[in-house]
Amino acid sequence: MTHSNLPDNQMRKILVTSALPYANGPLHLGHMVEYIQTDIWVRFQRMSGNQCYFVCADDAHGTPIMLRARKEGITPEELIQRYREEHERDFADFKISFDNYHSTHSPENRELARYIYLQLKEGGHIRRKVINQAYDPGENMFLPDRFVKGTCPRCGAEDQYGDSCERCGATYTPSDLINPVSVLSGMTPEQRESEHLFVQLSNFSEMLQNWVASELGQKEAQNKLKEWFDVGLSDWDISRDPPYFGFEIPGETDKYFYVWLDAPIGYMASFKNLCDREGIDFDLFWKNEQATELYNFIGKDILYFHTLFWPAMLHGAGFRRPTDVYTHGFLTVNGKKMSKSRGTFIMARTYLDILDPDYLRYYYAGKLNEKIEDIDLNLEDFIQRINSDLIGKVVNIASRSARFISGRFDGMLSSKLARPELYQEMIEAREAISDAYENRSFSRAMREIMALADKANQYVNEMQPWVIAKDSARGQELHEVCTQGINMFRVLMFYLAPVVPELVRRSGEFLNDPIDRLDRLDDPLLDHQIAPFVHLLTRIQQKDINALIEASRNEDSSADADQQELISIEDFARIDMRTARIIEAADVQESNKLIRLKVDLGTETRQVFAGIKGFYQPEELIGKKVVVVKNLKPRKMKFGTSEGMILAAGDDHGLWLINPGDEVPPGERVS
Ligand code: MSP
Ligand code: ZN
Repeated sequence: MTHSNLPDNQMRKILVTSALPYANGPLHLGHMVEYIQTDIWVRFQRMSGNQCYFVCADDAHGTPIMLRARKEGITPEELIQRYREEHERDFADFKISFDNYHSTHSPENRELARYIYLQLKEGGHIRRKVINQAYDPGENMFLPDRFVKGTCPRCGAEDQYGDSCERCGATYTPSDLINPVSVLSGMTPEQRESEHLFVQLSNFSEMLQNWVASELGQKEAQNKLKEWFDVGLSDWDISRDPPYFGFEIPGETDKYFYVWLDAPIGYMASFKNLCDREGIDFDLFWKNEQATELYNFIGKDILYFHTLFWPAMLHGAGFRRPTDVYTHGFLTVNGKKMSKSRGTFIMARTYLDILDPDYLRYYYAGKLNEKIEDIDLNLEDFIQRINSDLIGKVVNIASRSARFISGRFDGMLSSKLARPELYQEMIEAREAISDAYENRSFSRAMREIMALADKANQYVNEMQPWVIAKDSARGQELHEVCTQGINMFRVLMFYLAPVVPELVRRSGEFLNDPIDRLDRLDDPLLDHQIAPFVHLLTRIQQKDINALIEASRNEDSSADADQQELISIEDFARIDMRTARIIEAADVQESNKLIRLKVDLGTETRQVFAGIKGFYQPEELIGKKVVVVKNLKPRKMKFGTSEGMILAAGDDHGLWLINPGDEVPPGERVS
């Protein structure tokens, strides 16, 4: 909240970040709330003459990324590379003006994470504790809380994650669940011991409370933090056991940094990467709280990490803390949570294929404020706002005046304005609008700008240049009235510039003058050649929105959580499928899902554990013909090794074994 103590006449030096998107899924319009919000703020700072760096990166570590890569049969490095490219393309096309985009899986981040950890350790903030944790005996790995599901111990709701209940809101650990199962293997997790490293957060309690009280600007954030302080800060587990995709902890064997330790350090790493490339002073931004400002823009779901762990880590390692953390709410579409079946789970790319990024940027700006409220994208309202504000009010002013400037005056603006005091009035709004941008009250800024646009339109309507144009004696008047119109359009474009960069770029070309620093507005454009008017923006039509919904509905249903890739015929040919006959079937008592089968493949018999419990009784399986994947890597489980896979069709509600028909002998190739 408090700015640095620089004299007013000196430009501020600001470093801004948006949260780092996970490198295992595509960006959707919910993510874009944050990147657009941050980008508008950054562009405003730059237009105001401040030095403002904006960095981000992909968040590349952790269990979900490791498992996702494994599932696709590629390395985590390949997976994160692919998403990084995809994310960078989406951001570029949404005109997010990062100075640098990096990855947490980078040498800079490894180095900084190591440094910060060792500083914390030296400061006596790290301690060891043996903990009990859910362990998947089939996958041979410890399970993150979200990888265990079961019945809520409080309200009895089934199929709840291991950390909290979506129905009653209870929070707990996986071992509290009734009938817990691993979502990976379907097996009952065991409790196993492991030594973990913890940051003693309580050492920072007083520092954090002071920092929160003096720096955090948002009331809602203050209140949330007060609740957390009242409960007391517990130690933070920063280590993970293998298999894990992340950085190894220096001085330990087989321990990795938990993804949330090195994720925010990724802000520093991305900036370091930029500094090394462009000769910027890294320490000025990370050590000197007086000379520079640091802001982290985040969503409300990651407040805890950014207002407790993050400043504690920075402080403990001798770095400055953020000047403020700016938190926003979540996106709903048409008043509801984004939904695949309703076609409102809209990927950034799907949107970009159909619509102009400026539309969404303007719409979000009209909704965003300094509070942590959720914002709604109402698609009806969306069409309405863009068409009536951007096209009906703003672009319209230019088109009505430009006609005459081009047609009658060879594109030259007159040497004076028809109504200088109206121009003056419009540029005097600069302070109020700047104040709104600075405080992230973008909706207020948009309201002020549209009120000015109304004024400008009212002026043109009153003057009726199309009537003046009919009177050959009023040429000078026509020239000045239209020059007034063009200049009012120019003021509006300066004000909108942080929000609609592409429209602004086209407008700058039309005006034949750059739209960059806000202080350029002091001088109107006079005696100046403008370019012929070109079409600046197209109306949105209902059919565009229909296409967007349709495309989102058709989006591969696993797009966000586990996007499906096309495989080649060669990939398919690698799968050796054979007909077989079940000769033995027995219940696996320790598992909720598995039945143990022995299958006859003609030339050999194999043991296979199939997840079909509940759908078939073991005795009815004996004698059935099935299809077996013969060249699947054997998998060791607690109860024995599974040497293949039986094909079945269905979902969680029904399952049917694929049956080749009784006349087919075992051992035949299926293709
Ligand atoms: N990788 C972490 C952040 C690490 S920062 C050191 C993460 N990634 S995320 O991909 O899940 O989310 C990135 C950002 O997008 C977060 O700030 C998150 O709050 C925001 N949003 C994700 N979904 C969103 C909505 N539906 N609506 C608004 N913001 C959303 O969290
Ligand atoms: Zn519950």
